[in-house]
Amino acid sequence: MKSRRLLLGLSLVLQAAMGVAKDDGLARTPPMGWVGLSFLVEFKHSTLTTLVPSWNFFACDITQDTILKAAQALVDTGLKDLGYEYVIMDDCWHAPARSSRRPHPPVADPIRFPDGIKALADKIHALGLKIGIYSSAGTKTCAGQFGSLGYEEIDAKTYAEWGIDYLKYDNCYNEGQAGYDLVSYNRYAKMSRALSDTGRPILYSLCNWGEDHTWNWAPTIAHTWRMSGDIMDSYDAYDDRCPCESMIDCKLPGFHCSMTRILEYAAPLVQKAGAGQWNDLDMLEVGNGGMTTDEYKTHFAMWAVIKSPLILGNDLTKMDEVTKAIITNKWLIKINQDRVALPVNRVRKSIIKNPHGEVTGNVQVWSGPLKDGAVVAIVNTTPEKYMMRYQLVDVYPQAKKTTSNRYSVLDAWALTNPSLGIVEGNWGRSLGESFDVTTLIPLEIPAHGVSVHLWQVGDPDRASSQHVLHGAEL
Ligand code: GAL
Repeated sequence: MKSRRLLLGLSLVLQAAMGVAKDDGLARTPPMGWVGLSFLVEFKHSTLTTLVPSWNFFACDITQDTILKAAQALVDTGLKDLGYEYVIMDDCWHAPARSSRRPHPPVADPIRFPDGIKALADKIHALGLKIGIYSSAGTKTCAGQFGSLGYEEIDAKTYAEWGIDYLKYDNCYNEGQAGYDLVSYNRYAKMSRALSDTGRPILYSLCNWGEDHTWNWAPTIAHTWRMSGDIMDSYDAYDDRCPCESMIDCKLPGFHCSMTRILEYAAPLVQKAGAGQWNDLDMLEVGNGGMTTDEYKTHFAMWAVIKSPLILGNDLTKMDEVTKAIITNKWLIKINQDRVALPVNRVRKSIIKNPHGEVTGNVQVWSGPLKDGAVVAIVNTTPEKYMMRYQLVDVYPQAKKTTSNRYSVLDAWALTNPSLGIVEGNWGRSLGESFDVTTLIPLEIPAHGVSVHLWQVGDPDRASSQHVLHGAEL
C-alpha cells in the first residue's frame, strides 16, 4: 500500500514536470494490439512506389473478414492473453461517400463490410478484444477516403455508437492547417473534445508524424502520438523519402523510415512520455520479412523499452515460429507494461570504427526504471558482434542512490534452453542473483543486435516469481 502511494506520488510529480497528461486510465501503460494495413502498405511501397505518396486505393482491401480473422488469431495464438487487445482497422474501411442525410455520418464500405462496423465491433468484443478505427484530420484520408475535418462531432458520435474503443487519427489532406503548433493542436483538439463528449472511453491515437512538435501539445489531448514518418520494414536502409536527421524541427517527416532511423528520432523525445502519454514509434514490422532475426529482436525490444505502443503489423494467420517467439517475449512485454510507466533514456552512444578508421556503426546504452529495479538495453548497430562490460552504476544514474541493494539480473533475449532454439517461451536466462550496482556484467551483442537486462531488487525468489507474470496481470 505504502509503495503504491509512493508510486502515485512519483507519477504525479513526473506528470507535473511533463505537463498534464490525458491520464484517464485508458493508456496508463502503452496500448498493445494489431493493425490491419502495414503489410499492405509495405507491398504498396515496394512494388507500386510510383503511386506513393497517394496512399492509393490499391491497398484498400481490408474487409470485415480480414479483421475478424486477425482477431480470432489474437485469441488462438495466445497473444490476447499477453495483452495484445486492440484490433485496429487502418485506412479504407470507408464507403465511397458519407451518408447523404444530414449530418452526414460516416458509412462503411457495404461490400467489404456487409454487416457494418457495429456488428464487427460486437464480434470483436465477444472475443474479449477491443476495436480500433482510422480517420484523418483532413478532408480525405491518406488513401483518399472521406476524412473527418469539419465532421468531428458526428464522426466521434458514430464511432461511439458503433462501439469503437480506439481512434487512429491521421494528417493527410489537412488543407494547409499545419505549420504552426497551435494550428495543428486546434485541429486535433477538436476530435479529442468530440471523443470526450461521446462519454465512451475511446483511446485517441494521434498520427501527425511529429509535425509541429507534436510531443509538446499532444499529451494533453491524446493518449499516444506518432513522432515520425512511416516505418519501413528495414533495419537501416537509406531513403530520401524520410529526409530529416532529427524530428525536433523536421519539416518533412515523409515515409520509408528505417527502424534505426526511428530509434534515432525517438532518443530525445522519450522525456515526453509517461502514464497516459506515449510516443508512438509506429507499428511493428516483426514477421514481415525485411529484417534478420537479430534485427527484429532489436526492433521489438527497443519499441518495448521505449514504451511505444506495441501494435503488431504482420499477418497473424501466417506467423512462423520465430516471429511468434519474438512478439511473445514476456519479459519485454512486462517491461513495456511496467507500473512505473516510464521509458528508458539513451545515456550513451559510442561511435565504433573498424581497424581502417571507418565508422561501422554505434553502440547505444539505454536505461530506465522498473517497479522493482531497472532495465538496461544495449544496441549494437555495427555489422560485427560487440563485446563489452558494464556496471549498473555507470549506465543508470539513479543506481548511485541504491548502492546497498542486491539484484537478480535476467537477460531477456538469452535462450533459457538453447537446445530448443528460438521458440515461444524460451527466453529469459538468469545471469546471477546477488549482484550490486558495481558488479561487472560481461556482454556479447550480436551484429545489429541488442541485449536487454532486467535488474530486479530484493529477494530473487520473489523477483523471479514476479517475472512470470504477463503484462495483462501486472
Ligand atoms: C499514413 C499513416 C500510416 C497509414 C497510412 C494509411 O499517413 O502514417 O500509418 O495509416 O497513412 O493510408
